[in-house]
This record gives sequence, C-alpha cells and structure tokens, in this order.
Amino acid sequence: MQKIKVGVYGATGYTGLELVRLLEQHPAVEIGFLTSESQAGRSLQSSWAQAPDVPLISASQAASGMVDQVFLCLPHTQSASQAAEAIRAGVKVIDLSADLRLDDPAIYQTWYQVEHPEPDLLPVPYGLPEIDRSQLAGAQCIANPGCYATAVLLGLTPLVQKGWITNTFPVIIDAKSGVTGAGRSPKQNLMFGEVYANFSPYNIGRNHRHLAEIEQELARRGFPAGQIIFSPHLLPTDRGILAAIYVQGQDNSNARAIFEQQYHNEPFIRMLPAGELATLGHVVRTPLAAVSLTSVNEKFLIVMVAIDNLLKGAASQAVQNFNLQWGLPETTGLLTLGETQYG
Ligand SMILES: NC(=O)c1ccc[n+]([C@@H]2O[C@H](COP(=O)([O-])OP(=O)(O)OC[C@H]3O[C@@H](n4cnc5c(N)ncnc54)[C@H](OP(=O)(O)O)[C@@H]3O)[C@@H](O)[C@H]2O)c1
Repeated sequence: MQKIKVGVYGATGYTGLELVRLLEQHPAVEIGFLTSESQAGRSLQSSWAQAPDVPLISASQAASGMVDQVFLCLPHTQSASQAAEAIRAGVKVIDLSADLRLDDPAIYQTWYQVEHPEPDLLPVPYGLPEIDRSQLAGAQCIANPGCYATAVLLGLTPLVQKGWITNTFPVIIDAKSGVTGAGRSPKQNLMFGEVYANFSPYNIGRNHRHLAEIEQELARRGFPAGQIIFSPHLLPTDRGILAAIYVQGQDNSNARAIFEQQYHNEPFIRMLPAGELATLGHVVRTPLAAVSLTSVNEKFLIVMVAIDNLLKGAASQAVQNFNLQWGLPETTGLLTLGETQYG
C-alpha cells in the first residue's frame, strides 16, 4: 500500500504524543516530520520516555509540501497560520486546536479575546463523525472538536435531533476532566500539590470556551443558543472526561431507543445497559465513548458520557477524521469496541 506521509506540529504536547503513538502503528501512514520549537534537534524520546525515537524539527524547517497531511497539535492562535500554509500547498489538514471550530470569526474573538488569525479559512467541517460524517469524507481541512464538546455533543445531539428536549432552559451539564486536558505547559494550579486530593470547579456557568462550539453545533440542529449551564471541574487524575447532562424531555420511555438508533453501528460508542453508569474506567486509554442513561422520573433524564480527553477527545478522533479524509475504513489504526477488554 502507498503510505500517506504525515507531519505533526506540536508533537511534544499531550495530544501530539498520543497522536504520534497512534500514527506510528497506523498501517497507511508514514511519519514525514514532527515539530517542536523548544526541543528541535532532539528526539521525541527525550521529551517522553515511551515515545518513538523520531527526530524533532522546528516549524520553520518543516514545509507542508514535504507531506500529504498535517495534524496541528498547537495552541489556539498558532494553528490557523499553519493550516493556511498547508491548504495553499494542497496538503490535507486536521486542526486539534480551537482555531477552526467556530464558523464565525467574531464569535471566536468574543470567546478567545483575540482577532481570528485566518478568518478566510472559515467555516471548516466539524469533525465529530458519529454526529455527522457527511462533510468529512475527502475534506481538505477538518476542525477536530474540543474534548468537553465531544462528550457533551455525543450526549445531547441525539435528543436534540429528535426534538425530544422540552426544557429549553436550563440544560445543566456538570463535567469533570483530568489534568492533561489543560496541556503540558507548567501552570501553578496544575501542580501535583494543588491538584492531588483536591477537586475544583472552574469557568462555571456560561464561561468555558467549549460552550461556544457546543451551542454552535446544537443550533445547527435547531436547539437555541443560551440555554445551557456548563460547569467544568478539575479531577485529581491524569486523563478522562465525565459529563453528566441533566435534561427534561417528552417521555423517557423512548430516550434509549433514540440513542440506540443513532449509535447502534458505531464502533467507538458503547451504550451501557440500563442500570450501568458510564465511568472513566470504561474509556481511559481507549478511543471509546461510554454513554449511560438514567431516568429520574417519566420526563427527567441524566445522560452520562465518558471519554478519554486525549483519545476520543483529541488524537483518536483525529485518526477517525484522517481515515475519512482519505477514504480509509474509519477504524483503521484504532482499537474498536469489539477489540477491547471493555467491548
Ligand atoms: N489536552 C487535551 O485534552 C486536548 C483535547 C482536545 C484538544 N486540545 C487542543 O489541542 C492543542 C494541543 O493541546 P495539548 O494539550 O497537546 O497542548 P500542550 O501539551 O501544551 O502542547 C502544545 C504543543 O505545541 C507546541 N508549541 C508550538 N508553539 C507553541 C507556543 N507558541 N506556545 C506553546 N506551545 C507551543 C509545544 O511544544 P514546543 O513549545 O516545544 O513547540 C507542544 O508540542 C491545543 O490547542 C488544545 O486546546 C487539547
């Protein structure tokens, strides 16, 4: 098989490292280059002991034309210009940052407090295959969703699409993430002494940036913006997201059928049987999402969604999107539900 040559920008970050590990064992991929500004000239292994021994170069030494595909695992504001350069060179792009997720540059500026670096690139297909893969096949550029947004949209979109939800305000989402969700750069609030044996809310209410993409994607399907209360928390663990979504609807007796209709053929979505609740243990270090439904009464439902923020919330979702871009089976290079100990 002719291999697809890929470049990964930001390979020394948490999402970059996960992605390189997946790409290394992907049967259709050859690594063309890996970039890092701080570690250029060294091996990726010097940044992470379990990483493959592949040299790092700086972004200025990496020309998009050297590869067929780039993955951007860079901070927001840094990604967009690399995406523009790659697109000009005819190279396919998957951006894991927030730069290309919002259709409207003015909304980006409101949430990220900076002018959009490349507004002409927008809009770009939003890469959440289980919700809509129609625009992803063959796409030149895909915006990989945020980690919280992936969990929340997997839990809410099936209900929104069926017009099931009756309480437009509030839909309450109580979400928790492990520390790697905040990236690898050192920050005081992420130090072991601050996080260990602690549990902290942050950006609660309507302040977390992922709310913008969550509401954009739900609005596309008819759910009005401004109706969600979204409260994230920092868990004293390395990875994993658990979102509890509290919602009121027409009749709980058909809620499970709605989810099963949406996800019954999905190799990465594990619908848990009644009585079993989604936990981080169902998904951490796998590309899966686990979904559980709990009826509180006839109309009130709690949807729990668990994902690994670095895999289904970032790197494995990027590989699903890459496979779709290149017309490969979506599961190529990824362990599916039936192949894991959780299946
Ligand atoms: N962590 C998650 O769970 C998660 C999930 C979904 C999406 N994302 C998004 O994916 C992107 C990467 O996230 P991450 O968690 O992998 O971040 P990270 O651990 O902080 O890594 C960032 C990477 O970008 C490189 N970089 C290049 N220019 C940089 C600059 N000016 N400032 C800082 N780093 C720079 C860093 O290495 P050098 O400094 O050596 O170049 C590093 O390789 C972010 O946009 C993030 O929002 C993260």
